[in-house]
Amino acid sequence: MSQEARQARASDPESLARRFVRDGFLVIERFADEAACDALRARMAELVADFDPAGLASVFSSRNQDATFDRYILESGDKVRFFFEEDAFDAEGRLTRAKELAINKVGHALHDLDPVFDRFSRDPRLATIAAAAGLRDPRLLQSMYIFKQPFVGGEVSPHQDATYLYTEPVSVTGFWFALEDARAENGCLWALPGGHRGPLRRRFRRRPEGGVGHDELDAAPWPEEGWIPLEAPKGTLVVLHGLLPHRSAPNRSPHSRQAYTLHAVDGSAAYPADNWLQRRPDLPLRGFA
Ligand code: FE2
Repeated sequence: MSQEARQARASDPESLARRFVRDGFLVIERFADEAACDALRARMAELVADFDPAGLASVFSSRNQDATFDRYILESGDKVRFFFEEDAFDAEGRLTRAKELAINKVGHALHDLDPVFDRFSRDPRLATIAAAAGLRDPRLLQSMYIFKQPFVGGEVSPHQDATYLYTEPVSVTGFWFALEDARAENGCLWALPGGHRGPLRRRFRRRPEGGVGHDELDAAPWPEEGWIPLEAPKGTLVVLHGLLPHRSAPNRSPHSRQAYTLHAVDGSAAYPADNWLQRRPDLPLRGFA
């Protein structure tokens, strides 16, 4: 399949729906114009500049040792929190590089708590695209700003988003916006076309005894063959079915690959109390309006 054949037009919902059912993803180029991408990047630069990472060294140096890091993530579903690269702090708790180059991502309620991200996330065209992707009552559950830093941006291993944002039935749908050109050399998304027709392989959930873990539902390995790069010029929107296997390679290039992602679920689907992402009752999920 050529890149051209995969590109879908936002103005043709029927063809979007057909492609989404067939492939499990959509690549919609020129969804956001340059100015909109730049405005979002500028707003994030402000948030990072205003953020004081003092006190976070313990969170990130303990990420594999105790519950501090788990708690930092698990309580972030209704907040705007900053997540740093693994080696961002030295033994004395100082940042090893400039703050804006040490951040991995920011999440997970930017779309509800920051007016600039709220506006970007509630573009009326997204409601049309969400409907074409099969969401009847879309609710914006999660947002993330992903930096994929030059030289050090890590890989994301193959996964299905429904592993992390599970509903019954599965309804999570990802909206991934390229705020800079995403090419194979700076770690663009890769996907397995049609792979959304397979089962959910794993489910990530809170454990009754505390902490979180994966339940293995299907131990079949991911296929080696059939993955395609979803190269996405700045402004492209990629829509991902919750069961579509996808991944991204590390960024070893000198060019960052900043992206903004939104995940929506269907309001009529059951949302389990043991999903990692929980929101406080006074911040209920809203749709695109
Ligand atoms: Fe994902």
